Formats: sequence, C-alpha cells, structure tokens
Amino acid sequence: RQADPCTMVIFGASGDLTKRLLVPALYNLKHAGLLPEGFRLIGIARSPLDDETFRQEFTKAITEFATTDVDMAEWEDLVARVTYHSGAFDDPATYQTLADDLAEAAGGPDAIGNCLFYLATAPEFFAPIVERLAAAGLTREQGETWRRVIVEKPFGHDLVSARALNADLLAVLNERQIYRIDHYLGKETVQNIMVFRFANGIFEPLWNRDHIDHVQITVAETVGVEGRGSFYEQTGALRDMVPNHLFQLLSFIAMEAPTSFAADALRSEKVKVLDSVRPIDPASVPMDAVRGQYGAGVLAEKPVWAYRAEPRIAADSVTETYAALKLNIDNWRWAGVPFYMRTGKRLRRRMSEIAIQFKRAPIAVFRDTPVEDVGSNLLVLRIQPDEGVSLQFGAKIPGTALDIGNVKMNFQYQDYFQSAPSTGYETLIYDAMIGDATLFQRADNVEAGWRVVQPVLDVWASRRPRDFPNYEAGTQGPRQADELLARDGRVWRKI
Ligand code: BG6
Repeated sequence: RQADPCTMVIFGASGDLTKRLLVPALYNLKHAGLLPEGFRLIGIARSPLDDETFRQEFTKAITEFATTDVDMAEWEDLVARVTYHSGAFDDPATYQTLADDLAEAAGGPDAIGNCLFYLATAPEFFAPIVERLAAAGLTREQGETWRRVIVEKPFGHDLVSARALNADLLAVLNERQIYRIDHYLGKETVQNIMVFRFANGIFEPLWNRDHIDHVQITVAETVGVEGRGSFYEQTGALRDMVPNHLFQLLSFIAMEAPTSFAADALRSEKVKVLDSVRPIDPASVPMDAVRGQYGAGVLAEKPVWAYRAEPRIAADSVTETYAALKLNIDNWRWAGVPFYMRTGKRLRRRMSEIAIQFKRAPIAVFRDTPVEDVGSNLLVLRIQPDEGVSLQFGAKIPGTALDIGNVKMNFQYQDYFQSAPSTGYETLIYDAMIGDATLFQRADNVEAGWRVVQPVLDVWASRRPRDFPNYEAGTQGPRQADELLARDGRVWRKI
C-alpha cells in the first residue's frame, strides 16, 4: 500500500548520504508505487541554491547512484515535488521559513499535515535541529496528524553522549516519534535472520548451548576511510561498527523469540540479549578485545596506502581500523557459548557473515576417520556479498574405505529471488512513513549497545597501542586476533 500522505524534510540535503542513498531509495519507492499521493520533499542545507539548481543536483545524483534503470517520466514527476531552503541548522529563521512554506502549501498553519524530518547532518546538529523544530511548533501532533524524526548514525560517541542525546530528543519528542537508523536493519539478509530462526521449526530446537559450540560474526571490508578521514580519526572501527551494526547481527542471532513482530515486542527482546552480555572486565580487555590498524599493503593486486598515510589522518594516529571481541552471554540459552566478532577495513575481501559452529557428534564411530573430521556442522548466514545460507555436514567419500568429507548445502538468494537491487533505505523510509518502528532502534537499544563496548573504549583510550600498524592492508587482520581464538583452541574462518 501507499505510504501515508506526507511531506519529507531532509536536513543535510546536499550531503553525501542524501545523494548516494536517499535519492535512489526515494526513486525506488516511487517506482514501486509506494510513495504517497501529493508527496513533497523539502531539502534544507547551508549552500545557497535555488530550487532549480537543487533539482539538478538530485537529477545528477540519480544518474550516478540509481540502483536500477530510471524511467525518466517517473523521475520528472518525483523531482518536480522537490524544493529547497538554504539556511543554517542553528538559526531559528530557517525553521520559520520552513513553517511558513509548509503552512502556505497546506492552506494554513493548522492544515500542515504529516511531516517526516530526516536528519542527514553531522551529529552535533541532531539535538539543535529537533529543539528548533519543536520551538517552531513543527513537532506537535494533532489528531491523526503525525510528525516523525529519522535520526542518522552516529547516535552518540559513547554511552554518556548517547544518553545525553536521547535525553535531548525525548525532552521535545515522544519515543514513538523518533526513528533511529541503523542501516543494517534495512538489509534483506539481516531481516532474514529472524525469518530463518522463527519461521522454521527445525533450527530453533538446536539454537542453544547444548548444540552450539561458538558463533563467529564477521564484517570485513576492503574499503579504507574513503575521504572520511576527519570523521574516522575520531571514531575508529569499534565505535563505527560494533555497538550498532555488529550488535544488530548479534541481537538477531541470540535473542529470544519475540511475542510478535510489533516494534516494541521485538525491540524489547533485543535489549534483553544485549543486557545479558557479560560486562567486560577492564582487566581482561587486553585478552578479549583486539584492535588493529592497517599498514600499506596490496589489495586486488593494487598497492594501497597505510591508514596513517591517508588524507586527514595523523601520521602517528592510534585510531583502530580493526576490532575483534569475545563476548559471553550470561543467560540460560547461551551460557558457555562464546560469541566472537570482528570487523575491519582494508581486509582481504568484503565478507559479512555469521558462522554458527555446532558441537561435534558425541562419539566417533567411524574408525577410518580422525575424530576431528567427523560431524563438524557449520551453518553460515552470508549477509553480503554472495547472499545466502549454507550448512556443512559430513558425508561418506565414495570408495571402499569409510572416509568422511565435509560437504555443503547451499542456498543462494540469486537462485530463488529476482529482487531489484536496492539501497536498503527503501524499507526504512517507507516504514517511517507508515509508522512501523520495528526496524529502528529504540533509546534503550542504542544505550545497551554502548554499555557493552564502553569498558573497551575506556581501556583503549587510556593505553596507547604501541604496535600500530599491526596488519597489512589486504590481509586477514592482526595476528593478535588469531591469538584470541587460538587461546580457546579455535580459528577464525578465512576472510
Ligand atoms: C557505516 C560505517 O555505518 O557502515 C562505514 O560508517 C562502513 O565505515 C559502512 O563502511 C558499512 O556498511 P555496508 O552497508 O557497506 O556494510
């Protein structure tokens, strides 16, 4: 069904996120017939542009970043609904102009209908924008009319700042008006984790400490900092990826079945599982948390710079571009099952997956095969690229001897589904327009994520790493990460 009639207002409308992701996502929604009748889009940013120039920028963006072929008639219809205001985010006049514009289009201030405000700005503007929107009366909901705010990442820099930002937003908005984005929740393969677990009867009985040995979560990237040097220097791999994206994967893999897929039922289960993660003892951080930074190396047969040689990166930077953690979940389902996770930039290849290693068969009855080769069942949920699910099991190798080899059942999305490529933002924008917050983070979800990583952030901030750079670009990451698993008698899957 079409989304509710609304006006979307994008703050930061001339930025990278808008061009790369929001513009193509809006086009895809339009193409799928999901944008409402009478949809309007207002862009706000500092650059002094007129409507026409701004529309041209959007057209340039769709040409460059469309995920599918663009039907120009459809595009013209969409872009004709776009207007632009130039203004500073901290200037009340910006909001007065916006309010006047909305009122004029609606035929009076009381007739302004539903508005979706999208904060695609630098994070320091999130709270000021919302405060000024509220001061201009634009966040007040009357009757059926809704006013919603989508807040982009990063949501805070640590636990204290995330709490402060939540407090600032909640001082002027209701929780149900706030849609905190984690774009991993827009990914089909991430949503599919829930379907895999809870729409199938056969996996869930095995999904616990009795049958699972350990879990490995990997989000490996080949990209470096991609012109985002100043942001990344202040952020690092742990903050950038773990409390948000990797913890979405962890939550979906480890949570209990929600009572329904209503937003709060699901989000409460996600908080519960993060709250069950055993607090990391600062004394064990050096053992259970590994940080790394890439040096120069070779990727796809091309030489690449060291992190410290990238633009806007300090020559003696101690920002990590790789992080690995061992976490324990202290609940009945997972007691004794370690969750290892790692993420890094400039690794050998792009690979995001969750590998669930099952326990071995209780006894080895096949004399010819060494026990370590028997029944090593492995379930891999491949998030990207090469999306799919595979299950490895032992099979008899044909021949007179009773030798066993590992084989794989492999599901690949592309074999079954011909979905049009998308940005992942389509579902998120559409859900915000229909008021479904299931795939957004509630205040407590965000804080729970920061709470888990805070001890690591603190210890890392207090001790300068002395071995950076400690992995070569184009490799599997630092040796210390291998040692982390080796101490438990395990090995990472190959990137
Ligand atoms: C972003 C991070 O949130 O996620 C980036 O800031 C990272 O550093 C990106 O590259 C990864 O997203 P995806 O969708 O490419 O896996």
